[in-house]
Amino acid sequence: MTDKAYRTLEIALETGLTRAERELLRDLSRAFSRDDIILECEEDRLLVHLRALDLELFADTVEELARKHGLEGGAPLPCRLTESIERVGSYGIQGRKRDFVDYNKERKVKQRRKKEQARGPYYYAREGSFSRENNPLPLEFTDRIICGDSAKALRELPDNCIDLVFTSPPYNFGLDYRSSPDGVDWPSYFDMLFEIFDECIRVLKFGGRIIVDIQPLYSDYIPSHHIISDFFMRRKLIWKGEICWEKNNYNCKYTAWGSWKSPSSPYLKYTWEFLEIFCKGSLKKEGSAENIDISAEEFKKWVVAKWSIAPERKMEQYGHPAMFPEELAERVIKLFSFQDDVILDPFCGVGTTPAVAGRLHRRYLGIDISREYCEKARQRVESLAAREP
Ligand SMILES: C[S@@+](CC[C@H](N)C(=O)[O-])C[C@H]1O[C@@H](n2cnc3c(N)ncnc32)[C@H](O)[C@@H]1O
Repeated sequence: MTDKAYRTLEIALETGLTRAERELLRDLSRAFSRDDIILECEEDRLLVHLRALDLELFADTVEELARKHGLEGGAPLPCRLTESIERVGSYGIQGRKRDFVDYNKERKVKQRRKKEQARGPYYYAREGSFSRENNPLPLEFTDRIICGDSAKALRELPDNCIDLVFTSPPYNFGLDYRSSPDGVDWPSYFDMLFEIFDECIRVLKFGGRIIVDIQPLYSDYIPSHHIISDFFMRRKLIWKGEICWEKNNYNCKYTAWGSWKSPSSPYLKYTWEFLEIFCKGSLKKEGSAENIDISAEEFKKWVVAKWSIAPERKMEQYGHPAMFPEELAERVIKLFSFQDDVILDPFCGVGTTPAVAGRLHRRYLGIDISREYCEKARQRVESLAAREP
């Protein structure tokens, strides 16, 4: 051992080590710096002294060495070794490495928990008085695509019957939707949106979530994501957070530089949209363990709230100018809902949300004002449902 500080894990060895296992551990020790990890074998236990580790590289190396020493196919020691390091829940991140020691030395806040309690969370939503009585979605609305204005159509639904609303409303950019104007004056636009969002809040179950994918209109200096978030917070929903959907579309429409090479008014460019996440009444959602379908890998990756997903490439094929990609809907639905939950999209376009929801064994309700989009959505739901997840 060195005089450096390490975090030590202990792996019990019930039967001692085989020769192949010893060789694997020897090779593994050689593959990594002693400044990062030291493996120490004792008679009945393996001590793993950790300082910093690129866990992905470590897991790949273990796998490769397991193959080399004939220990592949889920042999206990290599699996236990990687899993026990993966299970360490608190660490800092430096580039690709996890820091297991002294990563929070820089923390300036003393008595963090006490201060958190004194401040209290989501003060803006505390007087929310939502009914806890949830209702089933009536059969005539289950697994349906409805053509109509959501402001009207949603009034037919009972209170508290939807688990998750996932939607992207028209952004008021002036796009060419088939049956609705996109590009009205801003107060009328937000009035239209908020009438529908009020209905969404009403039909949402206690503990349900509303997730709105929205892009501000930067060229007009309209922070739509803030205006919409402010609306939900005034309605006493809890802001759960925000996901940055990085589209990496560098050929954005607004190519002007503003005041080129001058600080007087440079024009900022963006390649992402926002997903604003709100909860009704509680941050916690009820659901049974057998209805969880997200894998550990997906969970670990997707809770990091910056999602790099390419924009939908088949918009021309579907004849819709502003679809989001299926992968976005898939991540949202698996991360924020259980199988069998009811998913609503009140601006469903050509049915991305309902189609993915159906494929992932959720129930869905999609509404769009355009007959043509609804027809395509129905066809899509059927063809995606036929595909295995
Ligand atoms: C951004 S698009 C949604 C696209 C969708 N996420 C998809 O992937 O296909 C917004 C949709 O809202 C619809 N829309 C506009 N006003 C509406 C209203 N009052 N009620 C229902 N749908 C409306 C438009 O027809 C348009 O398809």
